Amino acid sequence: MAVVTIVGAGVIGISWARLFGGAGWEVRVSDPRPDLDEVVARELAGLPVTATHDLAAAADGADFVQEAGPERIEVKEQMFATLAAHTRDGVVLASSSSSLLPSKIAQGNPAADRVVIGHPFNPPELMPLVEVVPGERTSAATVDHAMEVYRGLGKLPIRLKKEIPGFVGNRLQKVFNDQANYLVQQGVIDVRDLDDLVRASLGLRWATIGPFQSGALGGGPAGMRHLVEHVGSQMRFEIGRADQARMGEVLDAVERAYGTGQEAYEHLAELRDRRTRGALAPLDWPEPGPEPGSGDSTADGSADSVANGERK
Ligand SMILES: NC(=O)c1ccc[n+]([C@@H]2O[C@H](COP(=O)([O-])OP(=O)(O)OC[C@H]3O[C@@H](n4cnc5c(N)ncnc54)[C@H](O)[C@@H]3O)[C@@H](O)[C@H]2O)c1
Repeated sequence: MAVVTIVGAGVIGISWARLFGGAGWEVRVSDPRPDLDEVVARELAGLPVTATHDLAAAADGADFVQEAGPERIEVKEQMFATLAAHTRDGVVLASSSSSLLPSKIAQGNPAADRVVIGHPFNPPELMPLVEVVPGERTSAATVDHAMEVYRGLGKLPIRLKKEIPGFVGNRLQKVFNDQANYLVQQGVIDVRDLDDLVRASLGLRWATIGPFQSGALGGGPAGMRHLVEHVGSQMRFEIGRADQARMGEVLDAVERAYGTGQEAYEHLAELRDRRTRGALAPLDWPEPGPEPGSGDSTADGSADSVANGERK
């Protein structure tokens, strides 16, 4: 059985552990949190998982590493130095970071060629996307192998051509969320109505076709060129920016709408997971087929093939 080391047993690490464990990997979870054993027993019951506070011990003998520790560059650098020292050559060291550059995480790291971003959307066990982002020194073999492993988990890995802070998903989300905050601050709409508006329009559209594909359709048979010249040409208004000094108002409004604490969290997570599962089935995610340009449609990246050394 192939061994994956998951670094960090927070929101993302636990979900990765469930995903890898459910796909036939032996999972080792490492986190200094004092309640690690209880968290693992509660969240990962029935899966082939062991837990330890000792990162070096968790990394020793791993076939793949998925890091999901704190989003702080100095902590990531330290964790990846330990991972480099305690894993053998060829083992991919993937970070779940939401925005940090892989070249920075790997700065001064002797295994920089093995460091790559494998950025999921929350929760990784359900959301199809993993953004695979190479740093300046990441090897092509590392990127290829990470892509295979994520495909083997049933994910849709998308390889960026080069690194940029926030990658693609979170850059788009940052722009979008800023405008949502601005509209709430301006008193145009409240939090729940904005959420419903998005779910009933852009969210549903973007789950079925992407923004460019939508543009190609929006202009009718004349395509996106017509849309841009016709409707687009009239959208000349300034969009404004959210006032960071007034973010407290938005946070208060979100807390009034959805609450906080364990009970509210579990209720919201259950609702999200049920709806996401329901939406995924008819959408046929992930779409089968090789990565364009990879020239390889055979490697499956499954736990068995990784354990048997079927790597590129
Ligand atoms: N939350 C999200 O929506 C989301 C989505 C995609 C990616 N990410 C990324 O995933 C990573 C984890 O985020 P999260 O939301 O799960 O955070 P989190 O705070 O829930 O979990 C982080 C965990 O790391 C542990 N930790 C602290 N020091 C450690 C160390 N030295 N070694 C191992 N573990 C250590 C903490 O105890 C904690 O349990 C971050 O890099 C984040 O950017 C988060």
